Amino acid sequence: MDNSKKESREQRLSGERDEMLVDFVESLSTDQRLYKYDIVGSIAHAQMLSEQKVITKDEFKQIKEGLLEIEEEIKEGRFKFDKRDEDIHMAIESALVSKIGEAGKKLHTGRSRNDQVATDIRLWMRDEIEILQAKTTLLQKALAKLAGRYAETVMPGYTHLQRAQPIVIASYLLTFVEQFERDFIRLANCRKLLNISPLGSGALAGSTLPLGRKSTANQLGFSDISYNSIDAVSDRDFCAEFIFDCCLIATHLSRLAEDWIIYSSSEFGFVRIDDSFCTSSSMMPQKRNPDVLELVRAKTGAVYGSLVGMLTILKGQPSGYNRDLQEDKIHIFAAGDTVSQSLDMARAVVSHTKFDSTKISAGLEEGYLDATSLAEYLVGRGTAFRDAHGIVGSLVAQCEKENRKLAELSLDELKKHSAVIESDVYDHLGAANVVSKYATEGAPGPKQAKEQVEYWEKQLAKR
Ligand code: ARG
Repeated sequence: MDNSKKESREQRLSGERDEMLVDFVESLSTDQRLYKYDIVGSIAHAQMLSEQKVITKDEFKQIKEGLLEIEEEIKEGRFKFDKRDEDIHMAIESALVSKIGEAGKKLHTGRSRNDQVATDIRLWMRDEIEILQAKTTLLQKALAKLAGRYAETVMPGYTHLQRAQPIVIASYLLTFVEQFERDFIRLANCRKLLNISPLGSGALAGSTLPLGRKSTANQLGFSDISYNSIDAVSDRDFCAEFIFDCCLIATHLSRLAEDWIIYSSSEFGFVRIDDSFCTSSSMMPQKRNPDVLELVRAKTGAVYGSLVGMLTILKGQPSGYNRDLQEDKIHIFAAGDTVSQSLDMARAVVSHTKFDSTKISAGLEEGYLDATSLAEYLVGRGTAFRDAHGIVGSLVAQCEKENRKLAELSLDELKKHSAVIESDVYDHLGAANVVSKYATEGAPGPKQAKEQVEYWEKQLAKR
């Protein structure tokens, strides 16, 4: 142990630290990835101290150069981490003191690890949000591109996983672009709310020294400072919010995965995921398994776990900083890492997947996808919807008995159920006719899908 560490401990606590305690209280193994943020935060703090004449310009210069050297050492793997330092903040500070001596001892003036760590996490999260947003955009682009190939290809749309009404494949794919767009916006909102500087809040009560809080905030690109030092060191709302945003991304990824696991089964045969993104079985030689998607689906559970973990850390704490907060990083890092990896994999899978339009269209006339369209045809000819619903219901019952499709019924047979039916009824039957008749904005018809694909391609190209 180097002397400064030993000295400060020996002044208050007696004896050597218990080995088990060292392992239990350290967060260095988790928080060393914050080193870059800790160093820029410390440089900003030291510059502010020199602006305020709490330290000299020369001391600031020494501190800055020392910190930049330490950053290089960590980056290149030359830095010796010692878990007796507890965390990245102490590790860097004690290395600085060893490196530059007296000036190094002044860095922590008017600062506590409590406001330091709150600052570091916010800086990390700003970057992490940008990374996740970029990955979300790439996935959206891949989905929009795939959608562009299938703006006219019809597939069954489902409710309750039962065939419901026909849709074009593009509209199905764009549902995910919409979901990830909301995720993108949620992340932007999260970033906006977290982008304030807690630096200068000290342990909880700020400082009696004339700290320039706006200077550090400006240097670090924060949009404002926090205005309650006790709250600033203990606020981790943004961590819970960030993890929640990750949870919803994971949810959307999981639903996409679930669809495609079902769609790639031989029972469905709707999609074919490229071999390079499938795995095989150790025993059954014929297998092509969608393991990647299954893992994307499964990893969602761990992300939800992080949210519960984070919220539970927060709920029972008395006001002010408590060491409980150290565990926040486990959850924010895990959630960010998992979602980041899953977004990458999902994009790769989406870019290597084809829809089997032959297989899809072969079964398209099963399941009376055109029944609602027929009811609406009757409405167009003056029938009340509730009556139309009943008429079509009995037509479907008849067809089911005779194993026929609605479009196979003759005009006479149709007229027996409703006198208003004319020969133009056949334009309203059959999946392809139905999608071309969708009139509402946002409906899954080819016209709307083309517009939407174009909209998204333009929109996403701006990012
Ligand atoms: N490693 C701690 C954390 O992550 C830093 C703050 C510790 N502060 C303290 N007074 N023990 O939260």
